[in-house]
Amino acid sequence: MSNKMWGGRFGEGPDRIMEEINASIGFDQRFFAQDIRGSKAHCTMLAETGIISREDAEQIVAGLDAVLAEIKEGRFTFKRELEDIHMNVESRLADLIGATAGRLHTARSRNDQVALDFKLYIRDTIDHLDEQLAEFQLALVDKAETHADTIMPGYTHLQTAQPVTFGHHCLAYVEMAGRDRSRLADARKRLNESPLGAAALAGTSFPIDRHRTAKDLGFDGPTRNSLDSVSDRDFVLETLAAAAIAATHLSRLAEEIVVWSNPGFNFVRLTDGFTSGSSIMPQKRNPDAAELVRAKSGRIIGGLTTLLVVMKGLPLAYSKDMQEDKEAAFDALDALSLSLAAMTGMIATLTVNAPEMRAAASRGFSTATDLADWLVRALGLPFRQAHHVTGTLVGIAEKKGVDLDALTLDEMRAVEPGITDEVYGVLGVDNSVRSRTSFGGTAPDNVRAACAHWRAQFGRNA
Ligand code: ARG
Repeated sequence: MSNKMWGGRFGEGPDRIMEEINASIGFDQRFFAQDIRGSKAHCTMLAETGIISREDAEQIVAGLDAVLAEIKEGRFTFKRELEDIHMNVESRLADLIGATAGRLHTARSRNDQVALDFKLYIRDTIDHLDEQLAEFQLALVDKAETHADTIMPGYTHLQTAQPVTFGHHCLAYVEMAGRDRSRLADARKRLNESPLGAAALAGTSFPIDRHRTAKDLGFDGPTRNSLDSVSDRDFVLETLAAAAIAATHLSRLAEEIVVWSNPGFNFVRLTDGFTSGSSIMPQKRNPDAAELVRAKSGRIIGGLTTLLVVMKGLPLAYSKDMQEDKEAAFDALDALSLSLAAMTGMIATLTVNAPEMRAAASRGFSTATDLADWLVRALGLPFRQAHHVTGTLVGIAEKKGVDLDALTLDEMRAVEPGITDEVYGVLGVDNSVRSRTSFGGTAPDNVRAACAHWRAQFGRNA
């Protein structure tokens, strides 16, 4: 059978394989709500500008609502021979209202239609991701507040560096998620121009009102160049880039959860809800959800790469290559949404083993920098010399198998005669974190102030 939409020129239907490679209905059906919303706005404008009659427009809008209801209620049969969501909806509209349906596509092409649908979809997705990121931040701020005073080892190279607070560590991810939100918001701002009315590529000779449809669909205005409108997908690329960065942040936290929940660390315990057992080793408690979040960043970064490669080198304007823009984006954005949900759940429910964290922070000479700083402050040594003295003392303690605060005063004085017993005041982890009050530092009071800052932000934005 020849195609309903362009059968005028085509005698024969497509080859079976052509149908398979050409159809996008399998994945673009998720645009149904955006597609119908766009069509209703277009139709209303066509009537307002006198391009079609009011009666026809009313019939079309009512028919589109009926199609929407059928899809929502699962009564709609998507047909591969109708290729994509646009033609499936229009064809069903024709079944319901007859030849009048054919007036809907006046002054429009599937090229501006698909660009519109995708923009509306991405805009909705950004809004949803923003809510999810806010919830993720909130879960972290809750944990940070509870653990403003909980001491853990801070690492560089995953080697004990200096003691920090667990609250401070949680808040590091709140900052990252805040920037992820702002990157998405930035992408949203730039995408918010309507491509509808660009038609196939050159605009149209009908007296359409693009400002009217743009406003109706919640855009700031219409796009300014018809060629650009139908041929760029940078709004998807930007969103995927922001998503890839967010996923990279999540993968780092996921990795930390995997490490922290390892019995060798024993810093946190995940709930049964986010772990799994082993069918052969009864002692196992595997952090599967964290591992999967860590891995899902792969497909999210992959989605960005896929679309960059699809778009690279395409001549203006539309090419069918651009139908390949959807699956990778859907997959990536779905994966990010699921990862955020899982991570928020894990953070909200995990319990912290404060004594174990504290004990680990006290091992590994984590207050060596505090000792060096004390030598500078109390004895006036240049920092480089203080660093050297401290290094010698760490070497002695290491040989004895003890921590710095277990060295006797005599042992310390043998290295630097000026040292007094005041030094013991800076060798404890509590004093160490409490002293880190510089702006953005790990001190418990700083953590509490940062939590208050974020709560005030959420009051406004979330
Ligand atoms: N299904 C198509 C897509 O996803 C819609 C646009 C088709 N346009 C065309 N000129 N063949 O890109």
